[in-house]
Amino acid sequence: MSLFRRRPEPCQACGGRNGTRRDWPISRSVLLTPIIGVSTNTIIIMTMIIASEFSPGGGTHSYEVNMKVEGSIVLVTGANGGIGRALVSELLNRGAAKIYIGARDTASLQPLLAQSDKLVPVALDVTKPEQIATAAKIAADVTLLINNAGTAGFTGALSAKDLSNARQEMEVNYFGVLALTQALRDAPAFRNGGAIVNVLSFLALVTLPVAGTYSASKSAALALTRTLRAELKPRGVQVLGVLPVQVDTPLGAPLPEPKLTPADVATGTLDALEAGADEVFPGALSEGAAQAFRNDPAALQANLANAVHSID
Ligand SMILES: NC(=O)c1ccc[n+]([C@@H]2O[C@H](COP(=O)([O-])OP(=O)(O)OC[C@H]3O[C@@H](n4cnc5c(N)ncnc54)[C@H](OP(=O)(O)O)[C@@H]3O)[C@@H](O)[C@H]2O)c1
Repeated sequence: MSLFRRRPEPCQACGGRNGTRRDWPISRSVLLTPIIGVSTNTIIIMTMIIASEFSPGGGTHSYEVNMKVEGSIVLVTGANGGIGRALVSELLNRGAAKIYIGARDTASLQPLLAQSDKLVPVALDVTKPEQIATAAKIAADVTLLINNAGTAGFTGALSAKDLSNARQEMEVNYFGVLALTQALRDAPAFRNGGAIVNVLSFLALVTLPVAGTYSASKSAALALTRTLRAELKPRGVQVLGVLPVQVDTPLGAPLPEPKLTPADVATGTLDALEAGADEVFPGALSEGAAQAFRNDPAALQANLANAVHSID
Protein backbone atom coordinates (compact mmCIF):
# COMPACT_ATOMS: atom_id res chain seq x y z
CA MET A 1 0.00 0.00 0.00
CA SER A 2 1.38 3.40 -0.91
CA LEU A 3 1.75 5.82 1.94
CA PHE A 4 0.49 8.52 -0.39
CA ARG A 5 -2.75 7.04 -1.66
CA ARG A 6 -4.94 10.07 -2.15
CA ARG A 7 -8.51 10.16 -0.98
CA PRO A 8 -11.12 10.62 -3.69
CA GLU A 9 -12.95 13.20 -1.57
CA PRO A 10 -11.59 16.23 0.30
CA CYS A 11 -10.92 15.48 3.93
CA GLN A 12 -14.12 16.10 5.90
CA ALA A 13 -12.41 16.05 9.28
CA CYS A 14 -10.42 19.20 8.59
CA GLY A 15 -12.89 20.90 6.32
CA GLY A 16 -10.68 20.73 3.23
CA ARG A 17 -9.42 23.82 1.47
CA ASN A 18 -12.33 25.93 2.71
CA GLY A 19 -12.30 24.53 6.21
CA THR A 20 -12.20 26.52 9.37
CA ARG A 21 -8.85 27.43 10.91
CA ARG A 22 -10.17 26.27 14.25
CA ASP A 23 -8.11 23.08 13.92
CA TRP A 24 -4.83 24.96 13.73
CA PRO A 25 -3.35 25.58 17.17
CA ILE A 26 -1.43 28.75 16.31
CA SER A 27 -3.70 31.59 15.28
CA ARG A 28 -2.35 34.25 12.99
CA SER A 29 -4.71 36.73 14.54
CA VAL A 30 -4.29 38.62 17.77
CA LEU A 31 -4.66 36.40 20.83
CA LEU A 32 -5.81 37.43 24.25
CA THR A 33 -4.03 35.18 26.68
CA PRO A 34 -4.59 35.27 30.43
CA ILE A 35 -1.35 34.76 32.29
CA ILE A 36 -1.73 33.73 35.91
CA GLY A 37 1.16 34.28 38.30
CA VAL A 38 1.39 33.72 42.07
CA SER A 39 3.14 36.35 44.19
CA THR A 40 3.28 35.58 47.95
CA ASN A 41 -0.42 35.14 48.82
CA THR A 42 -1.75 37.16 45.98
CA ILE A 43 -2.83 35.75 42.70
CA ILE A 44 -2.06 38.28 40.07
CA ILE A 45 -4.03 37.98 36.91
CA MET A 46 -2.66 39.79 33.96
CA THR A 47 -3.94 39.92 30.47
CA MET A 48 -1.33 39.97 27.84
CA ILE A 49 -1.88 40.76 24.22
CA ILE A 50 0.27 38.70 22.00
CA ALA A 51 0.50 39.96 18.45
CA SER A 52 1.05 36.66 16.81
CA GLU A 53 1.69 37.06 13.14
CA PHE A 54 3.36 33.69 13.31
CA SER A 55 6.59 33.68 11.44
CA PRO A 56 8.33 30.30 11.57
CA GLY A 57 12.03 30.44 11.06
CA GLY A 58 12.10 34.19 10.90
CA GLY A 59 13.65 34.94 14.26
CA THR A 60 17.23 35.57 15.20
CA HIS A 61 18.54 36.58 18.59
CA SER A 62 21.38 38.97 19.02
CA TYR A 63 23.78 36.83 20.99
CA GLU A 64 26.86 38.51 22.38
CA VAL A 65 28.90 36.11 20.30
CA ASN A 66 27.35 33.88 17.65
CA MET A 67 28.44 30.26 17.87
CA LYS A 68 31.42 29.53 15.64
CA VAL A 69 31.92 25.94 14.65
CA GLU A 70 35.65 26.50 14.34
CA GLY A 71 37.26 25.36 17.59
CA SER A 72 33.99 24.00 19.01
CA ILE A 73 33.62 20.71 20.87
CA VAL A 74 30.52 18.94 19.64
CA LEU A 75 28.34 15.95 20.49
CA VAL A 76 26.22 14.61 17.60
CA THR A 77 23.65 11.92 18.37
CA GLY A 78 22.65 9.43 15.68
CA ALA A 79 26.00 10.19 14.04
CA ASN A 80 25.95 7.00 11.97
CA GLY A 81 22.72 8.05 10.17
CA GLY A 82 22.35 10.00 6.94
CA ILE A 83 22.04 13.52 8.38
CA GLY A 84 24.34 12.64 11.29
CA ARG A 85 27.20 11.68 8.98
CA ALA A 86 26.68 14.81 6.88
CA LEU A 87 26.71 16.99 10.01
CA VAL A 88 29.96 15.41 11.18
CA SER A 89 31.60 15.99 7.77
CA GLU A 90 30.47 19.61 7.67
CA LEU A 91 31.57 20.21 11.27
CA LEU A 92 35.03 18.90 10.32
CA ASN A 93 35.07 21.12 7.20
CA ARG A 94 34.36 24.14 9.41
CA GLY A 95 37.12 23.37 11.87
CA ALA A 96 35.43 21.76 14.89
CA ALA A 97 38.15 20.85 17.40
CA LYS A 98 36.60 17.60 18.67
CA ILE A 99 33.40 15.75 17.85
CA TYR A 100 31.85 13.08 20.03
CA ILE A 101 29.92 10.86 17.67
CA GLY A 102 27.07 8.99 19.34
CA ALA A 103 25.53 5.81 18.02
CA ARG A 104 23.66 2.83 19.41
CA ASP A 105 26.10 0.51 17.65
CA THR A 106 29.60 2.00 17.76
CA ALA A 107 30.82 -0.51 15.14
CA SER A 108 28.67 1.42 12.65
CA LEU A 109 30.90 4.47 13.24
CA GLN A 110 34.01 2.88 11.68
CA PRO A 111 33.66 4.58 8.25
CA LEU A 112 33.32 7.98 9.99
CA LEU A 113 36.24 7.36 12.34
CA ALA A 114 38.51 6.83 9.34
CA GLN A 115 37.86 10.45 8.33
CA SER A 116 39.57 12.21 11.23
CA ASP A 117 41.33 11.71 14.55
CA LYS A 118 39.14 14.49 16.01
CA LEU A 119 36.25 12.02 16.29
CA VAL A 120 35.49 10.21 19.56
CA PRO A 121 32.96 7.35 19.43
CA VAL A 122 30.34 7.19 22.19
CA ALA A 123 27.85 4.38 22.73
CA LEU A 124 24.59 6.26 23.03
CA ASP A 125 21.05 5.00 22.85
CA VAL A 126 19.07 8.10 23.87
CA THR A 127 16.36 5.93 25.45
CA LYS A 128 18.83 4.36 27.91
CA PRO A 129 19.42 6.47 31.06
CA GLU A 130 22.68 4.71 31.97
CA GLN A 131 24.15 5.35 28.50
CA ILE A 132 23.02 8.98 28.68
CA ALA A 133 24.72 9.40 32.07
CA THR A 134 27.97 7.85 30.79
CA ALA A 135 27.90 9.89 27.58
CA ALA A 136 27.34 13.09 29.59
CA LYS A 137 30.47 12.33 31.65
CA ILE A 138 32.57 11.54 28.57
CA ALA A 139 31.35 14.63 26.71
CA ALA A 140 31.36 17.00 29.70
CA ASP A 141 33.39 19.58 27.73
CA VAL A 142 30.94 20.05 24.83
CA THR A 143 30.27 23.57 23.65
CA LEU A 144 27.72 22.49 21.04
CA LEU A 145 25.12 19.73 21.49
CA ILE A 146 23.40 18.43 18.35
CA ASN A 147 20.36 16.28 19.12
CA ASN A 148 19.98 14.57 15.76
CA ALA A 149 18.93 10.97 16.54
CA GLY A 150 15.39 10.22 15.51
CA THR A 151 12.98 7.50 14.54
CA ALA A 152 9.77 7.31 12.50
CA GLY A 153 7.31 4.43 12.47
CA PHE A 154 4.98 5.86 9.82
CA THR A 155 1.77 5.15 11.66
CA GLY A 156 -1.42 7.10 11.98
CA ALA A 157 -3.60 7.34 15.06
CA LEU A 158 -6.17 4.64 14.26
CA SER A 159 -4.21 2.74 11.61
CA ALA A 160 -1.60 1.80 14.22
CA LYS A 161 -2.40 -1.53 15.84
CA ASP A 162 -1.02 -0.48 19.21
CA LEU A 163 1.03 2.23 20.91
CA SER A 164 4.48 0.77 20.19
CA ASN A 165 5.52 3.12 17.35
CA ALA A 166 4.02 6.16 19.03
CA ARG A 167 5.81 5.39 22.29
CA GLN A 168 9.16 4.72 20.60
CA GLU A 169 8.89 7.99 18.64
CA MET A 170 8.17 9.90 21.83
CA GLU A 171 10.99 8.08 23.67
CA VAL A 172 13.59 8.92 21.02
CA ASN A 173 12.38 12.17 19.44
CA TYR A 174 11.13 13.89 22.59
CA PHE A 175 12.22 12.22 25.86
CA GLY A 176 15.61 11.28 24.40
CA VAL A 177 16.31 14.91 23.52
CA LEU A 178 15.07 16.12 26.91
CA ALA A 179 17.01 13.51 28.89
CA LEU A 180 20.34 14.08 27.14
CA THR A 181 19.92 17.85 27.33
CA GLN A 182 19.24 17.69 31.07
CA ALA A 183 22.20 15.36 31.60
CA LEU A 184 24.57 17.85 29.94
CA ARG A 185 23.25 20.96 31.72
CA ASP A 186 26.63 21.63 33.41
CA ALA A 187 28.58 21.51 30.16
CA PRO A 188 29.97 24.67 28.50
CA ALA A 189 27.25 24.36 25.84
CA PHE A 190 24.87 25.66 28.51
CA ARG A 191 26.92 28.74 29.29
CA ASN A 192 27.39 31.99 27.41
CA GLY A 193 28.47 31.34 23.83
CA GLY A 194 27.32 27.70 23.85
CA ALA A 195 24.62 26.27 21.61
CA ILE A 196 22.12 23.45 21.27
CA VAL A 197 20.77 22.27 17.93
CA ASN A 198 17.68 20.09 17.78
CA VAL A 199 17.02 18.36 14.47
CA LEU A 200 13.23 18.44 14.34
CA SER A 201 11.15 18.20 11.16
CA PHE A 202 8.81 20.35 9.10
CA LEU A 203 6.23 17.84 10.38
CA ALA A 204 6.53 19.51 13.76
CA LEU A 205 4.48 22.36 12.24
CA VAL A 206 2.01 20.40 10.12
CA THR A 207 0.79 16.85 10.56
CA LEU A 208 1.30 14.25 7.86
CA PRO A 209 -1.35 11.69 8.83
CA VAL A 210 0.59 8.69 7.43
CA ALA A 211 3.28 9.67 9.90
CA GLY A 212 0.90 11.15 12.44
CA THR A 213 2.50 9.73 15.57
CA TYR A 214 5.93 10.92 14.33
CA SER A 215 4.49 14.40 13.69
CA ALA A 216 3.19 14.44 17.26
CA SER A 217 6.62 13.56 18.66
CA LYS A 218 8.30 16.27 16.58
CA SER A 219 5.68 18.85 17.65
CA ALA A 220 6.52 17.93 21.24
CA ALA A 221 10.21 18.37 20.46
CA LEU A 222 9.53 21.77 18.86
CA ALA A 223 7.76 22.91 22.04
CA LEU A 224 10.71 21.59 24.04
CA THR A 225 13.13 23.48 21.80
CA ARG A 226 11.26 26.75 22.30
CA THR A 227 11.13 26.17 26.06
CA LEU A 228 14.88 25.52 26.21
CA ARG A 229 15.49 28.69 24.19
CA ALA A 230 13.48 30.75 26.66
CA GLU A 231 15.17 29.15 29.68
CA LEU A 232 18.66 29.60 28.26
CA LYS A 233 18.20 33.08 26.82
CA PRO A 234 19.42 34.82 30.01
CA ARG A 235 22.66 32.85 29.72
CA GLY A 236 23.22 33.81 26.09
CA VAL A 237 22.92 30.22 24.87
CA GLN A 238 21.64 29.75 21.33
CA VAL A 239 19.00 27.06 20.78
CA LEU A 240 18.39 26.28 17.13
CA GLY A 241 15.46 24.21 15.85
CA VAL A 242 15.97 22.60 12.43
CA LEU A 243 12.83 21.85 10.39
CA PRO A 244 13.66 20.01 7.17
CA VAL A 245 11.17 18.49 4.76
CA GLN A 246 11.90 15.01 3.39
CA VAL A 247 15.56 13.99 3.20
CA ASP A 248 17.23 11.20 1.26
CA THR A 249 18.13 8.93 4.21
CA PRO A 250 16.85 5.54 5.47
CA LEU A 251 14.34 7.34 7.71
CA GLY A 252 13.06 9.39 4.77
CA ALA A 253 12.82 6.42 2.37
CA PRO A 254 8.99 6.13 2.42
CA LEU A 255 8.56 9.85 1.70
CA PRO A 256 7.97 11.19 -1.83
CA GLU A 257 10.51 12.84 -4.14
CA PRO A 258 11.95 15.41 -4.46
CA LYS A 259 14.13 15.18 -1.37
CA LEU A 260 16.85 17.20 0.23
CA THR A 261 20.30 15.67 0.47
CA PRO A 262 21.76 15.16 3.95
CA ALA A 263 24.46 17.68 2.94
CA ASP A 264 21.74 20.31 2.25
CA VAL A 265 20.52 19.85 5.82
CA ALA A 266 24.00 19.93 7.35
CA THR A 267 25.04 23.07 5.46
CA GLY A 268 21.76 24.89 6.11
CA THR A 269 21.89 23.96 9.80
CA LEU A 270 25.44 25.13 10.41
CA ASP A 271 24.97 28.31 8.33
CA ALA A 272 21.91 29.14 10.48
CA LEU A 273 23.78 28.30 13.67
CA GLU A 274 26.66 30.62 12.80
CA ALA A 275 24.16 33.35 11.81
CA GLY A 276 22.52 33.24 15.26
CA ALA A 277 19.14 31.90 14.05
CA ASP A 278 16.42 30.40 16.25
CA GLU A 279 14.78 28.16 13.65
CA VAL A 280 15.79 27.14 10.16
CA PHE A 281 14.18 25.42 7.18
CA PRO A 282 17.33 24.06 5.54
CA GLY A 283 17.54 23.95 1.75
CA ALA A 284 15.28 25.44 -0.91
CA LEU A 285 12.68 22.65 -0.59
CA SER A 286 12.20 23.27 3.12
CA GLU A 287 12.12 27.04 2.63
CA GLY A 288 9.43 26.58 -0.06
CA ALA A 289 7.33 24.53 2.36
CA ALA A 290 7.84 27.15 5.06
CA GLN A 291 6.63 29.84 2.67
CA ALA A 292 3.48 27.80 1.93
CA PHE A 293 2.94 27.50 5.68
CA ARG A 294 3.39 31.24 6.20
CA ASN A 295 0.98 31.98 3.33
CA ASP A 296 -1.85 29.67 4.43
CA PRO A 297 -1.19 27.08 7.15
CA ALA A 298 -4.76 25.73 7.03
CA ALA A 299 -4.57 25.09 3.29
CA LEU A 300 -1.25 23.31 3.66
CA GLN A 301 -2.61 21.14 6.48
CA ALA A 302 -5.73 20.33 4.45
CA ASN A 303 -3.53 19.27 1.55
CA LEU A 304 -1.46 16.94 3.72
CA ALA A 305 -4.64 15.52 5.27
CA ASN A 306 -5.17 13.57 2.05
CA ALA A 307 -2.19 11.33 2.85
CA VAL A 308 -3.84 8.86 5.20
CA HIS A 309 -3.53 5.16 5.95
CA SER A 310 -6.67 3.13 5.46
CA ILE A 311 -8.24 2.21 8.79
CA ASP A 312 -10.53 -0.45 7.31
N1 LIG B 1 14.94 11.81 6.56
C1 LIG B 1 13.96 12.70 6.62
O1 LIG B 1 13.11 12.79 5.70
C2 LIG B 1 13.92 13.67 7.76
C3 LIG B 1 13.15 14.85 7.61
C4 LIG B 1 13.08 15.74 8.68
C5 LIG B 1 13.76 15.47 9.85
N2 LIG B 1 14.50 14.31 9.97
C6 LIG B 1 15.17 14.06 11.24
O2 LIG B 1 16.56 14.01 11.01
C7 LIG B 1 17.17 13.25 12.07
C8 LIG B 1 18.17 12.27 11.46
O3 LIG B 1 17.45 11.32 10.67
P1 LIG B 1 18.00 10.79 9.27
O4 LIG B 1 17.10 11.31 8.22
O5 LIG B 1 19.45 11.01 9.17
O6 LIG B 1 17.65 9.24 9.39
P2 LIG B 1 18.58 7.96 9.54
O7 LIG B 1 19.65 7.96 8.51
O8 LIG B 1 17.65 6.82 9.59
O9 LIG B 1 19.27 8.22 10.95
C9 LIG B 1 18.55 8.16 12.16
C10 LIG B 1 19.59 8.10 13.25
O10 LIG B 1 18.95 8.11 14.52
C11 LIG B 1 19.49 7.03 15.26
N3 LIG B 1 18.60 6.54 16.31
C12 LIG B 1 17.38 5.97 16.20
N4 LIG B 1 16.94 5.58 17.40
C13 LIG B 1 17.90 5.92 18.29
C14 LIG B 1 18.05 5.78 19.69
N5 LIG B 1 17.12 5.17 20.45
N6 LIG B 1 19.18 6.25 20.28
C15 LIG B 1 20.15 6.83 19.54
N7 LIG B 1 20.09 6.96 18.21
C16 LIG B 1 18.97 6.51 17.60
C17 LIG B 1 19.78 5.96 14.23
O11 LIG B 1 20.63 4.98 14.79
P3 LIG B 1 20.57 3.43 14.30
O12 LIG B 1 21.41 3.37 13.05
O13 LIG B 1 21.15 2.67 15.45
O14 LIG B 1 19.13 3.10 14.04
C18 LIG B 1 20.43 6.82 13.17
O15 LIG B 1 21.75 7.11 13.50
C19 LIG B 1 16.03 12.59 12.83
O16 LIG B 1 15.78 13.29 14.03
C20 LIG B 1 14.85 12.73 11.89
O17 LIG B 1 13.62 12.73 12.57
C21 LIG B 1 14.59 13.43 8.96
